[in-house]
Amino acid sequence: MTTTPLTDGFGRAFHYLRLSVEDACNFRCLYCLPGGYHRAEELPPLTVDEIRRLARAFAGMGLWKIRLTGGEPTVRADIAAIAEAVARVPGIRKVSLSTNGYRLVELAAPLRRAGVSSVNVSVDSLDAARFARITGQDKLKAVWAGVERCLELGLETKINVVLMKDLNDQELGRFFELAKKLPLSVRFIELMPTGENSNLFAKSHLSGTVVVERLLSEKWTEKPRPEGGGPARLFGSLDSLGSVGVIAPYSKDFCATCNRLRVTSRGGLRLCLFAEADFSLRHLLQSDDQTPELQRTVRDLIGKKEVSHYLPEGKIGNVKHFAMMGG
Ligand code: 5AD
Ligand code: SF4
Repeated sequence: MTTTPLTDGFGRAFHYLRLSVEDACNFRCLYCLPGGYHRAEELPPLTVDEIRRLARAFAGMGLWKIRLTGGEPTVRADIAAIAEAVARVPGIRKVSLSTNGYRLVELAAPLRRAGVSSVNVSVDSLDAARFARITGQDKLKAVWAGVERCLELGLETKINVVLMKDLNDQELGRFFELAKKLPLSVRFIELMPTGENSNLFAKSHLSGTVVVERLLSEKWTEKPRPEGGGPARLFGSLDSLGSVGVIAPYSKDFCATCNRLRVTSRGGLRLCLFAEADFSLRHLLQSDDQTPELQRTVRDLIGKKEVSHYLPEGKIGNVKHFAMMGG
């Protein structure tokens, strides 16, 4: 197996893979699946064996962190088995999961046992009625119980909030309080355009600088980026147990710190969230002896990664919604 790190033509090294294990989702978030999920493909998602082979090949190329995403990854009954298969791969040091949280109360402990050390939960509002309006599911209570369970178990816990004008920007103060009181990280994500949310995007997009300015005015200070951390800017304050992050894909230099690759639930390698196409790897996941060929293919494809997402130029690629590949 080769161990030279994966790098692209712009000197970016990739040590982080976001792997979608399921594109179905039971929520209908306004910015993602406002009309609910409709199965677009007949092919089943990757099996545990295919996922294990994928993780081994990437780990053999220096990748050490894997995030399991969806859609909603916990829609899969075998999610703990997937997490365990990935966590056992030599070289994988961190396995995390992104979830809408609807099964987290029951799953937090098994996932932790399987080797998951960090969980990101979407909580776009702390008000039950607003949460239901944004997600199409009146489940704030269950989701929050799941967050508390993660904290009890000592899992690294992050709350994702997609920032939206008039929908949740009135709750900034409440979210900051949460990050003061609890050892978790609240991360505000700028709303990103997709093929299916253009009306919402036009009405509700708000720049992350709104959050940054308010944090600075309330004496939060910016922290250095942790190793393997993503493109979030992180803030802490002396009297807070947790932190607040801001993820602003429209900001200058966002792409320069890109350290991630994505694989879709059917095994398509995506070089950028906003890419025009995926490159299928599934035919190279059918037996263990295909690993070298898989690695060669991945290296060649990564050489093609573009320098920027070109979002400010109005390009959004072929993204219909992020349930396709987990944001
Ligand atoms: N813009 C910003 N974030 C999004 N997510 C999904 N769709 C979008 C979008 N259009 C984020 C949600 C969720 C994560 C999986 O992806 O916050 O937490
Ligand atoms: Fe489901 Fe996540 Fe999309 Fe919401 S953002 S509809 S929880 S996949």
